[in-house]
Amino acid sequence: MCGIFGYVGHRDALKILMDGLKRLEYRGYDSSGVVVQNGHGLVAAKRRGRLDALEAEVRSRPFGGHTGLGHTRWATHGGVSDANAHPHFSCDGKIAVVHNGIIENFAELRKDLERRHRFLSGTDTEVIPHLVEELYEQAEGDILFAVTLAVGRLRGSWAMGVLHADHPNRLSVARVNCPLVLGLGDGENFLASDIPSLLPYTRRVIPLDENELSTIGPEGIQIFDRHLTAKARAPLDIDWTAEAAGKNGHPHFMAQEIDAQPRTVAAEVEAWGRSVPDLRLARDVDRVMVIACGTAWHAGLVAKAALEEMVRIPVEVGLASELRYGDHPFGPRTLAFAISQSGETADTLASVRMARESGSPILALTNVKGCTLAREADHVLYMRAGPETGVAATKSYTSQLVNILFLALHLGRERGTLSPERFEALTREAGFLGTHIGRILRQDPLVRQCARTFQEGYGFMFMGRRYNLATAYEGALKMKEITYLPSEGYGAGEMKHGPLSLVDERMVCVAITPRGRVKEKMISNIQEVRSRGGRIVSVATEGDHAVAEVSDHVFEIPSCEEMFSPILAVIPLQLLAYHRAVGLGRDVDRPRNLAKSVTVE
Ligand code: M6R
Repeated sequence: MCGIFGYVGHRDALKILMDGLKRLEYRGYDSSGVVVQNGHGLVAAKRRGRLDALEAEVRSRPFGGHTGLGHTRWATHGGVSDANAHPHFSCDGKIAVVHNGIIENFAELRKDLERRHRFLSGTDTEVIPHLVEELYEQAEGDILFAVTLAVGRLRGSWAMGVLHADHPNRLSVARVNCPLVLGLGDGENFLASDIPSLLPYTRRVIPLDENELSTIGPEGIQIFDRHLTAKARAPLDIDWTAEAAGKNGHPHFMAQEIDAQPRTVAAEVEAWGRSVPDLRLARDVDRVMVIACGTAWHAGLVAKAALEEMVRIPVEVGLASELRYGDHPFGPRTLAFAISQSGETADTLASVRMARESGSPILALTNVKGCTLAREADHVLYMRAGPETGVAATKSYTSQLVNILFLALHLGRERGTLSPERFEALTREAGFLGTHIGRILRQDPLVRQCARTFQEGYGFMFMGRRYNLATAYEGALKMKEITYLPSEGYGAGEMKHGPLSLVDERMVCVAITPRGRVKEKMISNIQEVRSRGGRIVSVATEGDHAVAEVSDHVFEIPSCEEMFSPILAVIPLQLLAYHRAVGLGRDVDRPRNLAKSVTVE
């Protein structure tokens, strides 16, 4: 949460910083700010609210200068205000700091520093510039050394950029538990909180490792450990394009990302057809513990259904935020399977570290090359969703599902729990998933119409079973996340145990009812809702009249094996949430109070 962008080179720093911040705004949009070293000193601007507010402020103020830092904030400590926007400064105004993370011991540091320094904000971050200012002298004017000394006094998490007025053409950066990527250009270099924001400038990147520091100049980058011993790091070449990270004519990133799924899902299937990743890690374990949050946790529920069916192995699905404080018996015979689009989610990483300490092998499924999760796992499955910018996860979810289902199919075949014939039939069928999604997307006008029907005063609940319990949870999460309407997902069999009391004629119950083992049960559950006046929107297999007869609206998915149905059934639910949110005038890509990457606890 919070986005950082930095530039050192020969171009107009302000222009590049504003452009970088635009791409990072999904990480937080409470306030934003920039600082540039313009040859005479530091010049800065910061504003509460969306980046537009800052843009309006700097439009008429040419900053000059070729070195600078920018920040977009998701507030943790200190309210949403101009004063709390980053950058924060030392008393002499010479040191500017942007920070993503939380300084846990800021209160005690501040108490001490306040005797000698004047604080202007209520943030935890502001202790950093004052600390660096104090230590600068002890570091004999070596700014990176001063930053290293300051970092030695901090507890918590940080990705920080530091700019000193007396060191033009130099940025100092440090990282602990928050992502920071260095971008390598020609006579110019960059730093950013993620890779996609760098893509218009470079595809050669170095993600900083835990506890590393770096000094960045126009001609080069040096990386150090905590003792300032230089480290050699080879850059990664990223194959994402800037176009894939754009809206491509769509009104929102989310719409672009929903629409991309015929291609992204087909790319995942093709990749597994071309070469099967090394699955040795998972071959001999007795059980699997999925570690994930949010949408990735829903993907974990599908992993449970698929691995238990195909591999006959017990699977638990841990919410990383709970797991990390629990007593889960990880161990060498338990595979820790961490699922994370960003690979930077703080709770997921903490649980992974806990699993590692207990000797579990770590398998990661992530979308981002070089992310922290990838670097800490024993083996990584990379998704091919491409950059996902909308805060609501869409194409990354279906990519996760394809990888999970193929993992289950291959492990099933290898461990002898799935016959070669069934394996062949299922993998062949997977080849149609991309085309199927294309067909579902053509129902967009129907979904939009349905969203309009339930425009005013309706609540939403989603119900599903087995493979589509996850779809119910995911449909509800999409709906609440971007519309702000209360909506919940339930196991359909649980309705009688409480949620049925929510049902009346203003409640829309979305029933995920494709053909499969639990369809008849789902129809009974739909009847229970209908007889209490609830409105039914179903996701059903094409031509399934039995479901249509008990539904007010039906979105159809092509006929498929039940295990593939969550990949298809979620598509109309993404569209439903999207259209409902647009109808309400919500900021679809940047829903209030949220950020895409949850890098703090
Ligand atoms: O990057 P991750 O997959 O670890 O993110 C996990 C969740 O924060 C994420 O899926 C979140 O729930 C989405 N905004 C949901 O749309």
